[in-house]
Amino acid sequence: MKNIIIDCDPGIDDSLALIMALKSPEINVVGITIVSGNVHASKGAKNALKVLRLLDMLHIPVYVGEGKPLVREFVTAEDTHGEDGLGETFIEEVYDVEVKNGVVDFILESAKRYENLTVVAIGPLTNLALTIEKDRETFNKLKEVILMGGAFKSHGNCSPVAEFNFWVDPHGADYVFKNIDIPLIMVGLDVTREIVLTPNYIELLNQIYLESRDEIAKFIVDITRFYVDFHWKQERTLGCVINDPLAIGYLLDSSICSGEDYFVQVVKNGEAIGQSMVDVADFYREKPNCHVLTKVDAKRFMVMFLTRLFPNYKKEIEVVLNNNRYGI
Ligand code: RIB
Ligand code: CA
Repeated sequence: MKNIIIDCDPGIDDSLALIMALKSPEINVVGITIVSGNVHASKGAKNALKVLRLLDMLHIPVYVGEGKPLVREFVTAEDTHGEDGLGETFIEEVYDVEVKNGVVDFILESAKRYENLTVVAIGPLTNLALTIEKDRETFNKLKEVILMGGAFKSHGNCSPVAEFNFWVDPHGADYVFKNIDIPLIMVGLDVTREIVLTPNYIELLNQIYLESRDEIAKFIVDITRFYVDFHWKQERTLGCVINDPLAIGYLLDSSICSGEDYFVQVVKNGEAIGQSMVDVADFYREKPNCHVLTKVDAKRFMVMFLTRLFPNYKKEIEVVLNNNRYGI
């Protein structure tokens, strides 16, 4: 059993990662911690509860963390994820479950309580930086941190060089990279950009819903509509890049990606703010602090993702994926 805490900013792709983790029997989600990123942490916490209600798992605790980055002014991604953070679906809130405070203490207590505990961080790294700052020794009892963020050879999505999670809180990100003593895996844009929920997959989800009335299928179709429109307007992508679920995919089967160990730091000011600076030629002669993923088997991931959510449709999923008639 893989015990994990998911630190996230739900967020459309965060919600897909939460669903994938919660639908995976090998994973025990001991808690969900929320950070400001796509939307303010207060909204993100409400969205996490909506996902837990969808899966009838409201027993899993949700902790609301930092409302703003360590230093920078907080800038949301509501243009991409919608004002509500779930593609402007404005789904009814969950009123009968309270979110908790005390993210830092929850992560530290959990690090002491669980033998092997992974933190999957798929939002800005503010919460993790504050946790290390409070008690670095206890934080390093964690097994590992798998994070979605950064870009190595791929271009950024907030500037030519900066990826959103690091751009929102570069001080938090750099602090984590500089003060972590356990395995840190960077699931960056180099690999997540390969993971595109295309119109074919979305139509498959639509058909799954029409036939089986599976509310998860409908939820994904509904919340990704806004995101698909953004991708077309912003970058002429047909469909939407779903970054965060790949961090869960890597947790489940690390052979789905490959990468190298490098010393990485995050640029904290100037034009390149938020850039993950990967010391590929060992210029600084620093010990590598991160395993940077550079390749992914995107098809294998998509089969893993979709079959975990819709196990009764494994055959159909593989037909859509492997039948070149669909031009995939
Ligand atoms: O750059 C993509 C990342 O930023 C994803 O985690 C997305 O949810 C946003 O948090
Ligand atoms: Ca995210």
